[in-house]
Amino acid sequence: MQRILIVDDEEVNREILHNILKDDYIVETAENGETALERMQECHDEMAALLLDLHMPRLDGFGVIAEMRRNGWINRVPVLIISAEFAVEVENECFQAGVSDFIHKPFVASIVKNRVKNTIEMFNCKNELEIRVAEQSKIIRLQEGRLGRLEPFNKMMIEYSSAIMEVETRLKVLNAMFSEEYKRNPFESIKSRLKKPESIYKKLERKGYPVTIENIRKYIADVAGLRVICSFPDDIYRLAELLVRQDDIILLHEKDYIKSPKSNGYRSLHLILNVPVFLPDEKKYIKAEVQFRTIAMDFWASLEHKLKYKKDIDNTEEIERQLKICADSIEELDYQMQEIRNKIDNADSSA
Ligand code: GTP
Ligand code: MG
Repeated sequence: MQRILIVDDEEVNREILHNILKDDYIVETAENGETALERMQECHDEMAALLLDLHMPRLDGFGVIAEMRRNGWINRVPVLIISAEFAVEVENECFQAGVSDFIHKPFVASIVKNRVKNTIEMFNCKNELEIRVAEQSKIIRLQEGRLGRLEPFNKMMIEYSSAIMEVETRLKVLNAMFSEEYKRNPFESIKSRLKKPESIYKKLERKGYPVTIENIRKYIADVAGLRVICSFPDDIYRLAELLVRQDDIILLHEKDYIKSPKSNGYRSLHLILNVPVFLPDEKKYIKAEVQFRTIAMDFWASLEHKLKYKKDIDNTEEIERQLKICADSIEELDYQMQEIRNKIDNADSSA
């Protein structure tokens, strides 16, 4: 049961109201404003309503209301005036001061019950709503904070995707010039991908660095990733050299897994580049990883990649052995095909 406080200097009034309300509430009484405020001081959090007489010795009803406003209690605890006062001005003054309702003496039990009940319910609703609004505002503020942090991340991702476009365009230009000269395309296709945020976070954590914009730029080389699929091994080197030779591209790191394949048989040429990207207010160097492979190497790498992400394979070692054999065959095949191409090319030119 909820607690209410009846404040009236006349015992008979306190008595009547107590009897009307005692079945529905824990009823406390006070005989003047001062005692009422003392009680409010102690337990304003638990009080569901205050029934307040206006004319009382020591501190009257207006004095109590003023103090309740000063403490902010009036926003949480509804005040119902109980008075024989019928002057409209007085009633208006009370409402202006923040009281919730006005019950006239003499009391009619059913009206008192309903008015108290309605007022308390309305205030409970209001209080709950205020709490919910406060919680929502807190969430919105939090989200704004997160979005605030997201903005530089999104900006950075645009820079990386611009770096992809930049490298892609340069490679396509080279392809066009090269095909004009040699009557064939040095690469079959370019695949590109922007690393997903989850993968970026995971990779940084794996490397033991906190997730920050600076650490992403510093320690992750393949946020912008390109894969260039060529027909022949010598096209790979020709194309890579033409790209790196461009005077505004900086080669940060080269890993030649074609000359020195990985123990599993993986072969590709990896270049980590710094690529200039022209932003609205500056030119910025952005990292990009470009992998060059032949069609056959790419075919092998896709199959081998599947093995890495498959768990619960019984004969992994046997599959690895077979993959290594395939890798060796592919190497041989690539160079045989290149030789055949050379013979055809030479025959062409001598014809
Ligand atoms: P991360 O592998 O990116 O953490 O960097 P790293 O320092 O190991 O560089 P590395 O050049 O070895 O690998 C870069 C990328 O090349 C990988 O993310 C893969 O896309 C590819 N790669 C490297 N090794 C293999 C391999 O054994 N098999 C396959 N399928 N892909 C590989
Ligand atoms: Mg690796």
